[in-house]
Order: sequence, then C-alpha cells, then structure tokens
Amino acid sequence: MKLKTIILAAGQGTRMRSAIPKVLHTLAGRPLLGHVCALSRRLADSDTIVIYGHGGEQVPTRLAHLDVRWVEQKQQLGTGHAVMQVVPEIDDDETVLILYGDVPLLRDETVHALLQCVGERSLGLLTVRLVDPAGYGRIVRGPAGAVARIVEEKDASDTERAIDEINTGILAVNGAQLKAWLARLDNSNAQGEYYLTDIIAMAVDEGLSVRTVQPGDADEVLGINDRRQLAHLERVYQRRQAESMMERGVTLLDPARFDLRGTVLELGEDVEIDVNVVLEGDIRLGSRVRIGANSVIRNASIGDDAAILPHCVIDDAEVGAFSRIGPFARLRPEARLSDHVHVGNFVEIKKTAVAQGSKINHLSYIGDTIVGTGVNIGAGTITCNYDGANKFQTIIEDGAFIGSDTQLVAPVRIGKNATIGAGSTITRDAPEDGLTLSRSKQISAEGWRRPEKIKR
Ligand code: UD1
Ligand code: CA
Repeated sequence: MKLKTIILAAGQGTRMRSAIPKVLHTLAGRPLLGHVCALSRRLADSDTIVIYGHGGEQVPTRLAHLDVRWVEQKQQLGTGHAVMQVVPEIDDDETVLILYGDVPLLRDETVHALLQCVGERSLGLLTVRLVDPAGYGRIVRGPAGAVARIVEEKDASDTERAIDEINTGILAVNGAQLKAWLARLDNSNAQGEYYLTDIIAMAVDEGLSVRTVQPGDADEVLGINDRRQLAHLERVYQRRQAESMMERGVTLLDPARFDLRGTVLELGEDVEIDVNVVLEGDIRLGSRVRIGANSVIRNASIGDDAAILPHCVIDDAEVGAFSRIGPFARLRPEARLSDHVHVGNFVEIKKTAVAQGSKINHLSYIGDTIVGTGVNIGAGTITCNYDGANKFQTIIEDGAFIGSDTQLVAPVRIGKNATIGAGSTITRDAPEDGLTLSRSKQISAEGWRRPEKIKR
C-alpha cells in the first residue's frame, strides 16, 4: 500500500494566547508537530506533507530537520481547503491519511487499524464518544447504524448536538476518491469554511461505506487548544512514559513524579529512580543505577551500579560504573567520568576526563582538565582555565593529591603522585612525587596582645 500522510497544522491556535504558533509548543520537550511527524515516520514508507500557515515560516524553519515536505496554506479557509493545497501531490492509487498537527498522543496501533478500513469501496474514520461532545463535529448515523454524514456543531440541530459520538478529524481514504470529492467542496455553511468533513456524505452518496475506528482512550485523539489541555496531555504522556519504564523493569518510587523528555536508549536491570527526576534527550542507564530525588539528567550515560545522589544536574556527560555523584553535583558537557569515581557536593565538572578511582568530593570547579587514576582533589580546588579570552588545559597525573583550596592556573601539569600543599596557587608545572606549595610562611608573633578598648 502506498501511503501519503497529510498533517494539518495551519490553524492559528488563538486560545494558546501565544506569539508562538501552536504546533511549536512543546510536549515532553518536543514540539507538538514533532510528535505527529514522528508517528507518520514510523508508518512504513509514508510520504509526509505538512500544511502550515499561521505563524508563517516559523514552523518549517524551526522544524527544518524533519523528514517531511512543507506546503503553505496562505489563508486558513477550513480543513477541506487545507487539503486542497496538496491535490497535485496526491496520487490516485495511494491511501491518504489525514492527521492533525495539534493531536500529539495518537497511537500507532490506532492508525494501523484505521488504515485497514480503506478499501475500494470504503474509507476509515476515527471517532470517539465523549461525555462532553461540545465543539466537535458529530457523527450522524442512519437507522441501520451506518455513518451518514458529519455535522459541525455550528450547523447542527438540537437533536444532532445530543449525539455523543464525535469526529476526531483523523481519517484515511483513497487518493483518487479524495481528489474527486475535494473538487466538489463548497463553503455554504455556518462558518463559511471548506469542511473536509463534507466528503463523508459524498462517499455515502456514492455507496461507499464509512468504517469507524475508536482509539484505546479519548486522550489519544485530544487536540490542544489551550495551555490547560497542553498541561493535561503532558501528564497523560508522562504517565505513559512511566508505565513503559516500569514495564521495562525500572522501579519508580512515584510514577506520577517522573518525567522523560526524550528516550531511554539503553536500560539495564533493576534501575531505581526516586521522585522528581527529569530525564531529557538520549539517556543510557546501566544495571542497578540509582538516581536520587530532584535530579535532572540530559543526554547522558550512567554506568552499571553508579549512584546519582539527590539534586544533581548532569548534562551531556558520562558516568562510569560504580561511580557516586552528588548530592548537589553538576556535570556539564563533556564531563567523562570513568569507573569508581566520586564527585561530591557543590562540585562542577566541565570538559574533563576523570580516570578510574579519582575523587573530587567537595566544592570544586574542574574544567578543561585531564585527571589521572587515583587522584584526590581536595575541597575548594579551582582550575583557572580561562584568562578572559582563551581556555587552557590542566593535567593532573595518576595518584596526585591536590590539597584543599588550591588554584591550578592553566596551562599547568601536576606530575604523577605529586602532592600540592593546601592553599596553593599553582602557576607552573609541579614535578612528580614531590611536594609543591606556594603558601606564604606561617608566623606566630611573639608577645602580641589583642588591642584593648581605650578608656577615656
Ligand atoms: C474539525 C472538524 C470537526 C472535528 C474537529 C476535531 C472540520 C470541518 N471539522 O473542527 O468535525 O470534530 O476538527 O478537533 O473539519 N487547519 C488547517 N487549516 C485550516 C483549518 C484548520 O490547517 O484552514 C488545521 C488546524 O491547524 C487543526 C486542524 O486543522 O490542526 C483542525 O482545525 P480546527 O479549527 O481545530 O478544527 P475544527 O474545524 O474546529
Ligand atoms: Ca477547533
């Protein structure tokens, strides 16, 4: 089956009260339209066209990386008018799937079921029953229960408005038939719009049957019109993510307080995630990884048996097996920690490789550095890597011991097994094995007395 997906995304979205086009608002960190395009891409061999309009070039510019074609609908004269924009692109022998750019949670299996409905004499329509159908087009069925037409709320009679089965707008139909029906659409209705929904009555008129499919749950077909609905679907989506993580064997201490704005590409067994953890981008978690409460982890890989203690921020970094990070640690881009590394509270690490067994336990900034194995970096150590114009590298060789409150002014090299005395400002290379310090000598003033208050 040849498949063409047309995603309608030209509408304004007034109720978002936003300068940003609606479909660029994000759900789980990804634009709404991105979710719909991802679904379309997962359908085998689907050729995808997005109809954009409101917000102008912002939408195709921002989403230029998507593997879709963009067609502009300059004026938004209705859903039928939107599809008319791509008539020259539709082949007679293909199935056309219509999706909405603001309906982000549609499931693959629902679409597959819908596509099954398309035959020479039939088309597929996704409908759902709602407790409150207000605002939607209603599915009008004949005496035998077959779909007869769709009536928009604004054109509906009172009896029609009482119908609780609504049109989701998502449908699948043969290309040649769709083109013939589009050519006959008019806008003589309450809204003066070209309604795509009018093709249903045309199909029935020609003796085709309209086969309906229902989604697993109504949230799947909910569109986003305002920020309340956006927040609602965000929670629905996150609940789905949490369920899927638990199915994959993760312990979530509270599935309602877990957010995944990306993909867990690799996952070991018996991972445990405490409350209020946010995972973003591409994440890899080894076996028995523990993530403490209130940590934000983006584009990172965490090795087997590593523990991320509470309140850590990890961004574009690697943590090796059996390492222990935090609480309150920050790993910035290109922090690459090997196995058995300890990073403690208020430590920031950037563009630094830390080899096996090294420890940076308290209050330090380590940037643009290579740290060897078994190094101990004392509290309050700062790599002075930036002179205001350029960045320079620090090298700390295996077994070195950096005393507390040391500044390492880069470029500088600390030799193997060197010891740096606490409170030093190190501006030149320190030789291996020896003690280097730049501290001024301590004196105790003999006979010194504290000043006393002068009596007047
Ligand atoms: C449409 C359906 C209605 C259905 C409802 C489901 C029609 C006539 N009505 O209602 O039966 O219950 O969706 O939400 O089809 N769009 C364009 N260009 C336009 C108009 C709309 O691209 O000129 C896009 C919008 O961006 C949106 C989608 O089409 O993604 C639906 O538009 P919207 O105005 O929300 O739907 P309604 O016409 O109210
Ligand atoms: Ca609407």
